Amino acid sequence: MINSKIHLARAVGRVRVLEDVLSKMDGFHGSLGIAHTRWATHGEPSERNAHPHSDDEEKGHGIVLIHNGIIENYTVLRKYLQERGHKFTSETDTEVLVHLIGELYDGDLEAAVQSALREVTGAYAIAVICREEPDVLVIARKGSPLMVGVGKDEYIVASDSSAIVAHTTQAFYLDDYTVARLTRDDFRTTTVDNVPITPQIRELEFDLGQIELGDYEHYMLKEIFEQPEALRLCLKGRINPREGQVVLGGISELARDLVKSKRIVFIGQGTAYHAAMIGEYLMEELAKIPTEVEFSSEFRYRNPIIEDGTVLIAITQSGETADTIAALQEGKQRGAMTLGIVNVVGSTASRETDAGIYLRVGPEIGVASTKAFLGQVMVATLLATFIGRRRYLAADYVSSLLSELQTIPDCIEKVTKLSDEIRDVTAKYTDRENWLFLGRGYNYPVALEGALKLKEISYIHAEGMPAAEMKHGPIALIDKHMPVVFVATRNSQYEKIVSNIEEVRSRGGQVIAVATEGDDQIRQHCDDVFYVPDVSEPLQPLVTVVPLQLLAYHAAVIRGKDVDKPRNLAKSVTVE
Ligand code: G6P
Repeated sequence: MINSKIHLARAVGRVRVLEDVLSKMDGFHGSLGIAHTRWATHGEPSERNAHPHSDDEEKGHGIVLIHNGIIENYTVLRKYLQERGHKFTSETDTEVLVHLIGELYDGDLEAAVQSALREVTGAYAIAVICREEPDVLVIARKGSPLMVGVGKDEYIVASDSSAIVAHTTQAFYLDDYTVARLTRDDFRTTTVDNVPITPQIRELEFDLGQIELGDYEHYMLKEIFEQPEALRLCLKGRINPREGQVVLGGISELARDLVKSKRIVFIGQGTAYHAAMIGEYLMEELAKIPTEVEFSSEFRYRNPIIEDGTVLIAITQSGETADTIAALQEGKQRGAMTLGIVNVVGSTASRETDAGIYLRVGPEIGVASTKAFLGQVMVATLLATFIGRRRYLAADYVSSLLSELQTIPDCIEKVTKLSDEIRDVTAKYTDRENWLFLGRGYNYPVALEGALKLKEISYIHAEGMPAAEMKHGPIALIDKHMPVVFVATRNSQYEKIVSNIEEVRSRGGQVIAVATEGDDQIRQHCDDVFYVPDVSEPLQPLVTVVPLQLLAYHAAVIRGKDVDKPRNLAKSVTVE
């Protein structure tokens, strides 16, 4: 907004393309602005569909809007608005919302936004400005994250705190159905029904250094190498091996109910779902509580059975995944106690749950999750041990498990040192378009995670599954062109997995194994081996996943892919 005139710029591709466009525009500066990077839901990625959208430029009020989310009833609204003479220029659902605000505008932007939002269904985080009220910014939220940084003589609105902390560490989060009207030196917040609310301004804990790339080529590599330190921070103050004690402040008040719980259901999506699968194994083995794991997206629509004593545990790095938030709300409504295993402090999941445990692994920037996954598995291990100790686990057992847990960061450090070796091995196979990842027990979710990492960033097709499942179909795919990665560390199923390796070898498949240091025998069954330190079975995922993260990273770099910003993916999926 410059001298009551709104200047618009849009571009397709990366933010730097937009920067180029802006640098060529004369006089593009001002004191109020909105911007959005769009992840295409309705309408292809094109300049026409890019935000901001505005109401009819000639006939409208000069209302301009950006939107993260989905307006679900946009077809009905679009028809209604077209009948009233509105012309649409894009294929987006967002454009309907700005026209609706324009239709309802009567000299008060805040009121028009409130009225419009009462008509829409779906999810939104929006920011709206208007030529006729040049000093006013109106924002609102339902379902998609939104927060306001309160700086000196300025407000900064964003969906994530990492965009704010360089300017101010004072901020407040908007709850669902909240609208805020901001001017240069004041703001007010209300519900969409215009009931005033007072937000709580809090201090963001954020070390800017954590989001700098430093000497690394990519955030993903930085975050893989940061894992030992991240896990030390995650463990800090939480374990006392000598006394066999786990201290989890966030859930201490609920400890008695948790210990008596009858059933645990983990929910999550993507990498968090894989961590939840490991959580299921840990919970049944260490805490002896019947446990299930489900995709949040399935749980929320499946009419799930929640009986007395059911605890719903959401695992989510961002704390903003739309399906996970909705599943949490569904579980809560049905009477479940809800817990969060969350990384982002203050995020929606952390606010919506009864209690929770933060990962404390620092901000994760790379789209492919690495250190958050390890943090999630570590916290699930702590939680299972915390409950287990209060149920069946002997103090001696817990003491030795916790002592071993303390060594995990060093073990991971050892594995990261294999990075160059892993790169060289990976280079031999990067021309292959189809891979299999196999594991058993605790290493089965690790196989899934290895396959997910590879496909996310290198665009190689990869499937993960329990090693035994291979015989039920996928074995038909195996020939000399197929690399098969086995997570084959020494544990209770070692002999079985060696037999599975032989089944692949006898069909000409090429085998890469993740094996336990000192296991020389496995070499004769495999083409390549990555060795990891020997740790006890429930802790193995914490070390076995690391070579697979590095394999995926190097495969993507060798294939020339944009590791930190893979195509079509988003760090935080705030639409269902
Ligand atoms: C996206 C990310 C994944 C992440 C998943 C769940 O797909 O790209 O890395 O695992 O969302 O995200 P959450 O924030 O809930 O852990």
